[in-house]
Amino acid sequence: MIPLIYPAPFADGGAAALAAELGANLGIIEARRFPDDEALVRVADNPAGRAAIVVAALDRPDPKLTGLWLLLRTLGQLGAASVTLVAPYLPYMRQDIAFRPGEAVSSRLLAEWLGPTIDNLVTVDPHLHRIHDLGPLWTARTELVRAAPAIADWLRREVPDAVVVGPDEESEQWAAEVARLAEVPHTVLQKTRRGDRDVEVTLPDPAVVAGRTPVLVDDIISTARTMVATVGHLQRMGLPAPICIGVHAVFAGDAEKVLADAGAARIVTCDTLPHPTNTISLRPAIADAVRRVLALT
Ligand code: R5P
Repeated sequence: MIPLIYPAPFADGGAAALAAELGANLGIIEARRFPDDEALVRVADNPAGRAAIVVAALDRPDPKLTGLWLLLRTLGQLGAASVTLVAPYLPYMRQDIAFRPGEAVSSRLLAEWLGPTIDNLVTVDPHLHRIHDLGPLWTARTELVRAAPAIADWLRREVPDAVVVGPDEESEQWAAEVARLAEVPHTVLQKTRRGDRDVEVTLPDPAVVAGRTPVLVDDIISTARTMVATVGHLQRMGLPAPICIGVHAVFAGDAEKVLADAGAARIVTCDTLPHPTNTISLRPAIADAVRRVLALT
């Protein structure tokens, strides 16, 4: 049976585009807020016996998660053969331990909450730092899409003289892979974060970056302070203005402007979250991941 692809309530992550890519049907939901902001979600077609896929853009997740949970659970109750959540950006992943006693470990708690409602989770480069795999968190099968091949393709075409700069140890996994695939050098800095918008990074190795166009690659651009600190170092070293690539375009507040004003030559993101900086499409890779998970041909 052809899968049904639903937009997440209040958080459509591109259900129609994915349905077109997969040759699947678009599912129909109704979603609205009651006057007190509680969510009403209704599945308006019949998912019984069919693979149901929900596509969600989960930046700024708090007003979105309850409606998403209502939809996922309802699809199961209506007899969908399987329920797959496609969340290209998986939120709440950076709090993966209690940094201070008593803090909620949100990466685990989100998985405990939504996990029982789904059979499969498809996501792109989740922020895995102190844990290295989603498997121990989620009961659902997890399928990870890597942004590195698409970013490397883009770099090969657009910036063949790049040197990839990862702004912190956590970015090593993306920066090293992008550089390897694009066949350019890379270097990874060390970061100290003293507060949400107070970030310091070490200087890049001058021997690695000399004579090349610096390209910063990180998984998330949120406040952009990580990239801003790095851009400042590159400027002081007299290097060309860098291109800043983020997989997930979260951009809290005025972050995009702050990064542009700091001297980024260009800000480029993947399309895991809709944003004007989206340049590199991961839709085909996400569609392939869904095909693998559901054994579609
Ligand atoms: C950090 O752990 C992530 O990999 C990113 O470096 C971080 O989320 C970027 O945050 P911001 O844009 O707020 O500096």
